[in-house]
Amino acid sequence: MVGIQKDSGTAARGQWGSRLGFIFAAAGSAVGLGNIWKFPYATAEGGGGWFVLIYIACIAVVGLPVMMSEIIIGREAQRSPVPAFEGLSGGKTMWSLVGWMGVVAGFMILSYYSIVAGWVLDYIKEAVTGGLSDLTSAGSEAMFGDLFQNFGRNVLWHALFMAATVGIVLGGVQKGIERGATIMMPALFVMLIGLMIYATTLDGFGAGMEFVFEPKGDKLEPGSVLKALGQAFFSLSLGMGALITYGSYLSKKDDIVFASAAITGMDLFVALMAAMIMFPIVFSAGLPPAGDAGLAFITMPVAFATIPGGTILAVVFFVLLLFAALTSAISLLEVVVATIIDKFGWTRKRTTLVVGAIIFAVGVPSGKSDLMIGSKSFFGWMEMISSNILLPLGGMAIALFVGWVMPQSKVYENFNAGRERAFAYRGWLFLVRFVVPVAILLVFLHAVGIIPND
Ligand code: PHE
Repeated sequence: MVGIQKDSGTAARGQWGSRLGFIFAAAGSAVGLGNIWKFPYATAEGGGGWFVLIYIACIAVVGLPVMMSEIIIGREAQRSPVPAFEGLSGGKTMWSLVGWMGVVAGFMILSYYSIVAGWVLDYIKEAVTGGLSDLTSAGSEAMFGDLFQNFGRNVLWHALFMAATVGIVLGGVQKGIERGATIMMPALFVMLIGLMIYATTLDGFGAGMEFVFEPKGDKLEPGSVLKALGQAFFSLSLGMGALITYGSYLSKKDDIVFASAAITGMDLFVALMAAMIMFPIVFSAGLPPAGDAGLAFITMPVAFATIPGGTILAVVFFVLLLFAALTSAISLLEVVVATIIDKFGWTRKRTTLVVGAIIFAVGVPSGKSDLMIGSKSFFGWMEMISSNILLPLGGMAIALFVGWVMPQSKVYENFNAGRERAFAYRGWLFLVRFVVPVAILLVFLHAVGIIPND
């Protein structure tokens, strides 16, 4: 094949040790700050049950088909996004740009993601040392404000979080990424289920559930569908090649349809659980439900200070958030690292250290909350460009690539994995060829403001 001669080949590449290891790693990528920090407040903001329903529809119609597409590309090529697109398109450089776009997106997302994960570290420290124990609403707001504005502290935590991410990725596919996910993901589920059981015992459980699931039509806007689709994309780690990269370490025998359904199911499960845990706790503490980014970092700490057993719950909650963030950050870093290794043949050690240091440096300005560029902070721009523009564009390109460019016999082979799925295949192909590109085009136009919010 043209265009892939420069790669180091598959011989030296990593492979997952087991099918479950792959599923944990990919679910680890998907389950992140998007599920626990963003999804609950997006639900509060977007009309409760309506938002949840639309979100589930977006996952089924767009998210799941794109996830299968990404894993198919990666598994077929056994290479990271850039050489995968080059190889499978017969060396067309235009397609390799889609791979590079994903690398840039991964780079940008990780740079600000690590700042938010740094706040999580700060809150773990506060929770453990009792700093959250008698917080009032005003006190909590002030506390978060102090952290948010403290450039030095942000950079310090950011450095620590990046060091942890680099440390795991240095270990490689099996001994780093897979091992990390195989420890952190089960622990995450145990903590999540523990918190869920606790939430059902609270007085505010009914009120919380009602808040999450009652369809509130007045909050439903035309933009809600598009918002839900954007959230589904970010939450499932789609559009930048994270799952192409993880799929490239998958053996030819594994069933992609089953794995994608499992990963998507876990991602949805965690998002719903997070909302079903957080709002009952907030209502039990007699607080108003925040519909913004302050829910996890301002409202939850006050709620923990109010309810019985709150100190331990706060530690569990923020450690859960840390594990979710870390397994996602690993996948963001791995996309960039795998690309450099595949394209330039550097060692994993050198690549991970150099890339980690550069992403750290690029993230530093995101820790300076008063650094404004026009109407937005540096952080805001990084978030906007990467998740509102690069991810939807990448996702659309991925669907078009699998639907129209990749040899159909290969796509069919990967979809079936030796099973009889002609009917499901046709349905899926229809989605990736037509429905997904159009739906994503709408999200994109919305994100850049061509279709207004309301
Ligand atoms: N899915 C992760 C989350 O929900 C974020 C992410 C996006 C990770 C894109 C990898 C790629 O937090």
